[in-house]
Amino acid sequence: MTFPTHFRWGAATSSYQIEGAWNEDGKGLSIWDTFTEMPGKVFRGHDGKDACDHYHRIDEDVKIMSDIGLQMYRFSLSWPRILPQGTGKVETRGLDFYDRLVDALLKANIEPWITLYHWDLPWALQLRGGWMNPEISDQFQNYTEVVAQRLGDRVKHWFTLNEPQVFIGLAYALGAHAPGWKLSLQENLVAGHNALLAHGKAVQALRANVQDSKVGAAPVGICFRPATESAEDIEAARRATFNVKAPANSTPEGIFDSLWNSAWWMEPMFNGRYPEEGLERYGDAMPAFDEADLKIIQQPLDFFGANIYHAQTVVAADNEDGYKIVNPPAGNPRNTMNWDIVPDALYWGGKFYHERYGLPIFVTENGIPCVDMVSPDKKVEDGSRKEFIRGYVGGVKRALSEGVNFAGYFYWSLMDNFEWAEGYSQRFGLVHVNYQTFERIPKESSKFYSEIIRTNGAIL
Ligand code: BGC
Repeated sequence: MTFPTHFRWGAATSSYQIEGAWNEDGKGLSIWDTFTEMPGKVFRGHDGKDACDHYHRIDEDVKIMSDIGLQMYRFSLSWPRILPQGTGKVETRGLDFYDRLVDALLKANIEPWITLYHWDLPWALQLRGGWMNPEISDQFQNYTEVVAQRLGDRVKHWFTLNEPQVFIGLAYALGAHAPGWKLSLQENLVAGHNALLAHGKAVQALRANVQDSKVGAAPVGICFRPATESAEDIEAARRATFNVKAPANSTPEGIFDSLWNSAWWMEPMFNGRYPEEGLERYGDAMPAFDEADLKIIQQPLDFFGANIYHAQTVVAADNEDGYKIVNPPAGNPRNTMNWDIVPDALYWGGKFYHERYGLPIFVTENGIPCVDMVSPDKKVEDGSRKEFIRGYVGGVKRALSEGVNFAGYFYWSLMDNFEWAEGYSQRFGLVHVNYQTFERIPKESSKFYSEIIRTNGAIL
């Protein structure tokens, strides 16, 4: 079976992780520029000052994409490159860079898919409270207008926010990402609400400024898979996928763990409501908000996007939640970040999200970090990555055969890059990057992916 003819294949990156040029052409500081300076926050003190030097290598990188055969490329814009202070004066050299990138992509017949926010908040806005500031959603709307007016004539596909669960939960509860705050549950809910409002206002700005826009978001698809295919276990996995757990305690870990779910973030965007269960379980910590906000947050979207790397395994259980998390079988492979590899994550995640939201589904990220070594003849034989792609994309194929409306897949990542708190210690790319010379070597997996694209999935 080939995939449907409208199915699209791509790869993804983000600005701070690949661009480098941290202080060129008038760019302002981002919260990752400052966070990486804080001792002990990032593996071996790595930072994204140069990253993959993509800022100076557009032509080479677009050529690599074109050689692989990518049909779409998902990348993010650096807000402080365009508005160095977050608001006010626009830095046209920053916009010029994205303009050139978009033109190069279109010339190579690769569709640009832009993410407005992939975590590099302008430092100037952080000093005004970041996502805690009630003005942030207007600031984000204003930034969106600026970029939509410049790029919207050519870029039709847009994502608002990448993974609010991470840039709020991991950053504001656990303190593991920039700005490294450890705030209360209530404060996290305020920041989360502001982020959701920013999503809604950005969608409005895109609709107003981009003709024929196609808009979605890219939250983490925190989904669960059943241990067996019994009706009870499947129901348990479905239930777990939309559950909002009460915080086990008020430690940063307890708060983070509770915010680490799909429903709290997706239900307001798609259904204009916070999940009842979450409201009950967050109780007094839930801040008062204006009901009209939910109307702003719930904008009609064109597709359902989710970043899915793994899924925990559950069985049915006779407890309040109706499920229990269990280990995958002994010997189940794990990647270099110690995440279990569960190829049917995309099958189950896709199925449950399809049932609930109905929209065409794009896997906005999916990938694996491996130990990738360069051989003397400059090859990178990354067999595990090939098997990962075969398995996970196989899950998409199974779901398609059962009527799940998958419409596209973005591998994370096009190239190895700065993996946030893990620095350069994790390699997710289809393309190997030497961080001293910036030499790029397409890995064997990129050839396999090319074949998948060329045959539209028939070789799987
Ligand atoms: C993020 C990427 C990150 C990847 C691997 C996602 O959480 O959107 O920026 O590199 O997963 O951890």
